[in-house]
Amino acid sequence: MDLHPASKFTFEQLTNAYNETRVDYLVPMPMNVARLMEYCRVYDVSLEHSCVAVEGDVMLGLGMLGVRQGRGWITRLGVLPAGRRKGTGSALMEGLIGAAQDEGLDMMWLEVIKGNDPAYQLFQKYGFKETRELIVARRAPKTQFNQEVFDKVKRITTLNHEDAIILLAHREERPNWLNETESQQNVRNLSALLVELKNGGRGWVTYHAGLLQLTRLIVEVTVGDPVEVTEAILTVLHQRHRRQDSIAENLCEDQTWLGFQKAGYFDSFRRIEMKRPL
Ligand SMILES: CC(C)(COP(=O)(O)OP(=O)(O)OC[C@H]1O[C@@H](n2cnc3c(N)ncnc32)[C@H](O)[C@@H]1OP(=O)(O)O)[C@@H](O)C(=O)NCCC(=O)NCCS
Repeated sequence: MDLHPASKFTFEQLTNAYNETRVDYLVPMPMNVARLMEYCRVYDVSLEHSCVAVEGDVMLGLGMLGVRQGRGWITRLGVLPAGRRKGTGSALMEGLIGAAQDEGLDMMWLEVIKGNDPAYQLFQKYGFKETRELIVARRAPKTQFNQEVFDKVKRITTLNHEDAIILLAHREERPNWLNETESQQNVRNLSALLVELKNGGRGWVTYHAGLLQLTRLIVEVTVGDPVEVTEAILTVLHQRHRRQDSIAENLCEDQTWLGFQKAGYFDSFRRIEMKRPL
């Protein structure tokens, strides 16, 4: 088996191989070529630093590496079901760690879906340690809203993409790779709402409004009770976007999450974030 840089392959070949590695995955996540290209662009995936394992002319598996100032991020790692437990996953990990070392990065990050024991064991074997658990939450559209929550709101300010990026750049909490300002900057047309409550509470939400779905939601409470302010911000948001369902990725289990739940979000699945110094 040989390792090659992913840049030697077309996006079509990479997408096909990726989909084959995920046929039996815990949370089905098939990709198409356009989505994989978008994924690589938004998350700064470097195909030169990403690896494909090949035997003859058969692709056995692949792993990708995002690269940002001193940091690397392992993603899309997978081996085709028929070729597992023969050392391919290990070879890909060694290729990715080697590429990160050659690039002079200090720290590597990744996430693994909670319950994916083979991948968790593999990452532990390569020195990755858990940092935190992250929640992927969803919400169905609703037509009814709690008037009591609106009665608490004093002022709503709508902001554009540039303002949203400024808010994100000044966050208190350490964001996960998916939610880092670098990722959000690469997304086009983010929107934001600043919400102030009559009791002095305030905070904001940044998001991307698609036709059918709100994505890339990030909430920060700057003043006041995190549960109350989060619920108010999200109620205002969803009243403005009644038709879309919503997905909020990689939330921490904290007071803000309680506010998300009060606004109708439920826990879809969880990821374990892990890191390893280089
Ligand atoms: C996780 C995955 C990449 C491992 O690939 P692989 O080629 O089977 O891995 P290897 O043969 O190199 O095994 C290396 C280590 O992984 C762990 N591992 C692999 N399969 C395992 C299993 N079924 N149960 C427990 N540990 C397992 C072990 O620690 C193993 O070391 P060991 O052989 O000394 O026990 C593969 O199972 C896969 O593609 N799964 C589906 C996609 C996926 O989960 N990707 C990760 C997303 S975060």
